[in-house]
Amino acid sequence: MKITPLHTDPRFAAEIAGVDTKVPLTPEQVAAIDAAMDQHGMLVFRDQPMDQEQQVAWSRQFGPLTEGFKKVTGKNPRMKDELADISNLGADGKVVSRDNKRIVNNLANQLWHADSSFQKPRAKYSMLSCVHPSSWGGETEYTDLRAAYDALPERTKKAIDGLVAEHWALHSRILLGDDQYTEEQRAAMPPVQWPIVQTHSGSKRKHLYIGVHADKIVGMTVPEGRMILMDLLEHATQPKFIYRHEWRVGDLVIWDNRCTLHRGRHYDLGERRELRRSTTVDTESAQDMAA
Ligand code: OGA
Ligand code: MN
Repeated sequence: MKITPLHTDPRFAAEIAGVDTKVPLTPEQVAAIDAAMDQHGMLVFRDQPMDQEQQVAWSRQFGPLTEGFKKVTGKNPRMKDELADISNLGADGKVVSRDNKRIVNNLANQLWHADSSFQKPRAKYSMLSCVHPSSWGGETEYTDLRAAYDALPERTKKAIDGLVAEHWALHSRILLGDDQYTEEQRAAMPPVQWPIVQTHSGSKRKHLYIGVHADKIVGMTVPEGRMILMDLLEHATQPKFIYRHEWRVGDLVIWDNRCTLHRGRHYDLGERRELRRSTTVDTESAQDMAA
């Protein structure tokens, strides 16, 4: 395997060559990819088109898979249960109209977030495979929450030490004005709590754990907590911490949701954009996490 850094900070974002995602990995190869993930937080594999079965088989090598937001949105007939449909297509495979409910997911993905931070256990790796990129826009940006933590003023590091945020699945939707959820849907996704500062188990580096799903700080008024969260997000998403991925057919990008945030960028919603996502469970987070 050959690893080439993609960012000015060589500890973040790398391209990895010499892996065929359609061939089962040896335990040594899985360990090498995990080690590269621990080091870089995200990896890009080029020219690895996969069908749904192949993506599920590949992803399972890195742990059990999670279903994420499907508890609220329901199943998708186009997609195996283990995969999330990151597209603007309907059940018939055609681009849906702009007022289709599915588009809310597309737009919410354009807010900075960590997948499934609103669940316990939360997500570890997300793996996004590009079937068909948009002809314009639609890049995905990733930010490095370890570098962002390191760059905080000492005073801020002290001030946020020990703070716990509440993460709620519907916050990003409500922020976009999509607030017509039933009591049953709300009850299916109760908020969860996570420390704002954590230590990444694979690298032992400290990082922020924030994003659009974090909507409150425990023990603070909502406005004060939200302002702190917004300030931290602004800090963490400065251009110097970001890698922007421009999609090609067959790209596979894997990111660690614990120490990175991501967002999709604007594209023409009337034009086909089709990616598929698998996500592994952070089994460590099933136990209580120390900050
Ligand atoms: C995701 C996601 C952003 C994009 O798949 O989890 O947030 O660019 N995608 O589609
Ligand atoms: Mn996402």
